[in-house]
Amino acid sequence: VTGGLPRPIGIFDSGVGGLTVLKALRNNLPCRDFLYVADTARVPYGRKPRQMVAEFAREISQFLVDQDSDAIVIACNTASAAALPSLARAMPVPVWGVVDPGVNAARRLTRNGRVGVIGTRGTIDSEAYQSRLQAHGLDVWAKACPLFVHLVEEGLAQSAEAELLARHYLGKMPNIDTLVLGCSHYPQLAQTIRRVVGNSVALVSSAEEVAREVRHALGNAPSLAEGRSGRIVHFVTGDIAAYRYSVAQVGGLDGVFRKIEGFDGVSLEALDGMGVPTV
Ligand code: DGL
Repeated sequence: VTGGLPRPIGIFDSGVGGLTVLKALRNNLPCRDFLYVADTARVPYGRKPRQMVAEFAREISQFLVDQDSDAIVIACNTASAAALPSLARAMPVPVWGVVDPGVNAARRLTRNGRVGVIGTRGTIDSEAYQSRLQAHGLDVWAKACPLFVHLVEEGLAQSAEAELLARHYLGKMPNIDTLVLGCSHYPQLAQTIRRVVGNSVALVSSAEEVAREVRHALGNAPSLAEGRSGRIVHFVTGDIAAYRYSVAQVGGLDGVFRKIEGFDGVSLEALDGMGVPTV
């Protein structure tokens, strides 16, 4: 496909949340190509039954494998909690989720052993974070914050409404010293959350953590990287214009945008001929 260069890395989320993970991956692996699926037609995943989310994750992962991805990163906590580890067993390429990297970071950061985790209802109800953190002897406070995703999807992360909602969800937090942002949309609310929880609480975003793990596992193919800048293809199931706006807000993730219906997208055989700009 790319003349002996590494195959692309596939990533997906229900929407724009996973762009924080894509950005971290891009910074860590600048020579690699990335295929990002934003399933914005079906966002939010957080309120949907676990089996349904697991099926979405399987369908999108298969699509990414069909597009010649050589690894898959589930940039969505809800899907990671619902679909791993069975998805990893079913796919012919390595699959990473974001829950374990977040847990590892929280374990490293906490001093008092009291950790909070916030996420969608699906993630919190699955107890994926709570069980892992407790297995390491930590006290866990968990809270579902279902409306946060909508604020971020609507570009309202820095608004007064976001702060009001953050106070509603986080105003009565117990004495934790570390808070895991257990939804890939939430890092975009970090400044707002910081204003509410104060400076003494460490905020954990799994984006950096998972990017480091993937880099470590895949390497950056230094001999092939010289003079090359990776490309990004964004596959979007919902409204393209709204999605492009969010990508521009995050910055540094320009590429080509493809609307997909039913996951029969373009073949990457055509990538070189598509005029994908490098970033
Ligand atoms: N960004 C996703 C997550 O990390 C879920 C948002 C949603 O679709 O509810 O859980």
